[in-house]
Amino acid sequence: MNKSKSKKNKQTSSIWGGRFKNDSSQIMKSINASIWFDKRLASHDIMLSKEHSNMLYKQEIISYRENNKIQKGLNQIKKEIIEEKFHFSDELEDIHMHIEARLIELIGDAGKKLHTARSRNDQVATSFKMWVKDELDSVLILIKNLQESLIVQAELHIDTILPGFTHLQPAQPISLAHHLLAYVEMLGRDKTRIEDAKKRLNKCPLGAAALAGTSFPIDRFYTAKALGFDGPMENSIDAVSDRDFVLEVLSNASIIMVHLSRLAEEIVIWASPGFNFITLPDSFSTGSSIMPQKRNPDAAELIRGKTGRVSSAFYNVSTMLKGLPLAYSKDMQEDKEPFFDAIDNLKICLSVAEGLIKEMIFNVSSMKKMAELGYIIATDIADFLVKECNVPFRDAHSITGKVVKYAEKNNLTLDRITLDQYKKIDKRITGNILTVITLKNSLESRNSYGATAPIMVKKAIKKAKSRWLK
Ligand code: ARG
Repeated sequence: MNKSKSKKNKQTSSIWGGRFKNDSSQIMKSINASIWFDKRLASHDIMLSKEHSNMLYKQEIISYRENNKIQKGLNQIKKEIIEEKFHFSDELEDIHMHIEARLIELIGDAGKKLHTARSRNDQVATSFKMWVKDELDSVLILIKNLQESLIVQAELHIDTILPGFTHLQPAQPISLAHHLLAYVEMLGRDKTRIEDAKKRLNKCPLGAAALAGTSFPIDRFYTAKALGFDGPMENSIDAVSDRDFVLEVLSNASIIMVHLSRLAEEIVIWASPGFNFITLPDSFSTGSSIMPQKRNPDAAELIRGKTGRVSSAFYNVSTMLKGLPLAYSKDMQEDKEPFFDAIDNLKICLSVAEGLIKEMIFNVSSMKKMAELGYIIATDIADFLVKECNVPFRDAHSITGKVVKYAEKNNLTLDRITLDQYKKIDKRITGNILTVITLKNSLESRNSYGATAPIMVKKAIKKAKSRWLK
């Protein structure tokens, strides 16, 4: 603990230590160090430094020889990191200082010029943004894969009937494909939200330096373009203090997790023997250590369980930011761990959901059985009365209520009621009802735009493929 005391009078070892007489205490070094998590930014930070150095040379701020040495040194460092030969320690705080210190070690004075006209403030904002951009590209691919697995299953189940629920009470017959396509739509919106965020975050902070810009004749448009951005951020103060890109992506990630969690919840319910709508694939279920009969939906439960973790990352970072005066404050270093954690978990959940859907076994007969039980064609009886028997909808609703009551009392499904029995309930009911009121007819009759009739679902699948899988 008292290292700082014993080291009194020893010149500080850190890169920024010129004005300090003593080294910082060990405990200070541990709270300050972000290296153990921000080393994930290494390759992006090196890319950034290479282009910064190219720009310094192009602008005649450093020489050809110096740039050459810097490029070679940075390549060497990249290799060391990939080969796990690079030495990390608390002493050098973060990835930016590690790379710079090693560069100086490798190439001497030229290395000391790399930090000309930049600061760690614009550096961290830039390399973090670059990292986020790449991650978003992989998230987009994972979303597409999940959409594809849903569409593939949908194609197999256009005519599979299951009870659609409201309030988790059987409501109306629907096509399983139609149900699965609802998730494709949700994921589609997720995708467009990410694409939209990507456009906004594609402005480069580099060159804002500490907060006020620099007196060196730099070319921010050059570095922005070389690093894959549309252009430089407009305001240097905003450039180093903006973490909207973190918040935006975390809020998008939270919405995706909400969608995955609802899917997971349905999987848990559907896999429960009371429903038995699905059998979980062996590859995505677990057994119990004590109850040999069990097949547990752990994969789905973990997706559901991780949702809080991802959405809390948004609260974490927004709460950290909300009281910060402009421009950079060290609080902002706390943006990375929750972000990394959220993105890692989002990605694993998307992959697991894809695997689950791909290998899911749908128990078509159990779905049909429940559809037959729950009086779910009651709305069709009411619609029939309106269309064929000229009964106003409110009256039709009340007559159908009586039909259901009658069926319940006599332990009948609706298709077992005879015409005589119908007539006793209301004499306006005609014979046609017996042929019209079936699950299949009910499903086929709902052919409005965006509805569940197989003919519409077929069209929806075609459209979904061209919208999302191209
Ligand atoms: N590790 C820091 C972070 O992640 C880098 C920026 C440090 N800047 C500074 N002025 N201390 O935010």
